[in-house]
Amino acid sequence: MSEVVIRSKENGPNLVMVDGKVVQAWCRCGGSSVMPFCDGMHKRNGFKAQPREVKVR
Ligand code: FES
Repeated sequence: MSEVVIRSKENGPNLVMVDGKVVQAWCRCGGSSVMPFCDGMHKRNGFKAQPREVKVR
């Protein structure tokens, strides 16, 4: 069975990881123009947030 992890990067997006590989990056700064995905805007809009990790399975 695959291991799914959601890794919230410090000051960045939520990375969806399956078996250690990033398969998607979800915006959590609210500034992306391609929601729900990260387009890198968090680097320019001053987004600040703590890192976090959740294992889904
Ligand atoms: S987290 Fe990257 S654009 Fe929002």
